[in-house]
Amino acid sequence: MNDILTLGIESSCDETAAAVVLNGRKLLSNVISSSLELHKAYGGVVPEIASRKHLEFIVPVIDSALKEAGVPLEKVDVIGVTFGPGLVGGLLVGLMAAKGLAYATGKPLVGVHHLEGHISANYLESGNLKPPFITLVASGGHSHIVLVEDYGKYRILGRTRDDAAGEAYDKVSRALGLGYPGGPAIDKAAKSGNPKYFTFPKTRFKDSYDFSFSGIKTAVLNHLNSLKMAGQPVPVEDICASFQEAVCGILCENTFKAARDTGMKTVVLAGGVAANSRLRDLFDETAKKKGMVLEKPSRILCTDNGAMIASAAYFAYMKGRTSDLSLNAEATYSLEDM
Ligand code: KG4
Ligand code: ZN
Repeated sequence: MNDILTLGIESSCDETAAAVVLNGRKLLSNVISSSLELHKAYGGVVPEIASRKHLEFIVPVIDSALKEAGVPLEKVDVIGVTFGPGLVGGLLVGLMAAKGLAYATGKPLVGVHHLEGHISANYLESGNLKPPFITLVASGGHSHIVLVEDYGKYRILGRTRDDAAGEAYDKVSRALGLGYPGGPAIDKAAKSGNPKYFTFPKTRFKDSYDFSFSGIKTAVLNHLNSLKMAGQPVPVEDICASFQEAVCGILCENTFKAARDTGMKTVVLAGGVAANSRLRDLFDETAKKKGMVLEKPSRILCTDNGAMIASAAYFAYMKGRTSDLSLNAEATYSLEDM
């Protein structure tokens, strides 16, 4: 079989990213330019600022990805791009660049679902990972438990009914004065905190793998208010550790329940929250205890990047899935509709 080189382009949030991947599994380059610093003052991503930065970064980032890989554009076989879900302004920038390249070179274009990208990050490092498997995709916008039945074929078994896990981290972080993004800040503070300091509620639904994180968030806010009203000091590290214990605990519990019920032996982590150190340890321990295989991307491949999009585009292309130039940006799009 001939080697296939894919160029992956990602611009759905605040990272402008491009990468070159060989045969869906070998990373040749991975260039990420982020506008994160500009959003910090506002406590979250400002779409208009992100879009303008994507415009500035997109061409140099693609150029660098090709250069670092030592692959001239003529040698690229497939162009993959995130078409959604995400911020439409940002998505359009990556999409227009990808469509322009596909049109100018006559190479096939593959529209990639952002979460399909996150899941595919695992193909880059776990040489033999093949569907079917159960995956937890936890990011700033989604918390899904997904049964990956085949490459490009997804069944959502559980999802959040309110806030995404990453969103809960970001909101609690803001309340504690730890800034944006909240995930890395809480992860760090929790390391010197007591996870048993306070038991924040874990929401469970009967006969469902769904999540709810708004209750935990409200419990943290109420606890903070009562400490402040009583004039007591706020034990930031302890609150972070206890909040994290509740969030990671329920993510782990429901994911392994879904794996057990579907008879899957492999569990896979994906998305920005998968960079969390407590979540990674808890999943490792649980998989070991249950005699299951756990795969997780290295931290840099958990958050948004182009390599995951290049990998997903390869597997989609091998299944005969390509897009035409009418491919549009979608703010929301279900993984099950791929
Ligand atoms: O996947 P991602 O980069 O972008 C989206 O698709 O949303 O995920 C970003 C989210 C943010 O909410 C961020 O706070 C969270 O992932 N995150 C973390 C960690 N690193 C990033 N959450 C918990 N622990 C971390 N170490
Ligand atoms: Zn993401």
